[in-house]
Amino acid sequence: MIKVLFVCLGNICRSPMAEAVFRDILVKEKLTDKIEVDSSGIEGWHVGKMPHHGTRKILDKQQISYEGMKARQVSKKDWKNFNYIIAMDDQNIKDLQKINSQNEEIIVAKLMDFVEEREEQEVPDPYYTGNFDYTYELVTEGCSHLLSYIREKHNI
Ligand code: 4NP
Repeated sequence: MIKVLFVCLGNICRSPMAEAVFRDILVKEKLTDKIEVDSSGIEGWHVGKMPHHGTRKILDKQQISYEGMKARQVSKKDWKNFNYIIAMDDQNIKDLQKINSQNEEIIVAKLMDFVEEREEQEVPDPYYTGNFDYTYELVTEGCSHLLSYIREKHNI
């Protein structure tokens, strides 16, 4: 099983959106027996909470399920459980390196790194921008490229 963990600051806006979008693609592509997905936050401020209403609103509009999803904080153990830790911005990467800087042969990268002709290097935080539509656009683009990368690398 290949395991992907999306990480953002609070785990209520961007990374749960990415988790839901990525899982939706996995279901449609019949890959749920090969690839698993989860999300977590650098900070524990919103632990146990469901995604932000802005994230829920756009997922509802796109008919993408976020059922049962609850915020949690990233932990050092995640480096043992996941093959990919996919962050949203440069600050997430810095914070992740503070939690665990050892290379455990897993890929730690930003979602937009997988998009070759990208207009953004980071996924903007809609908690501050209020623009959940634009974040959704980037998240879907990123997830689709990330999946292509994983399929090619692992031959699936
Ligand atoms: P996220 O956005 O990292 O995309 O979940 C944020 C959520 C909450 C806060 C900041 C960013 N906050 O300050 O509570």
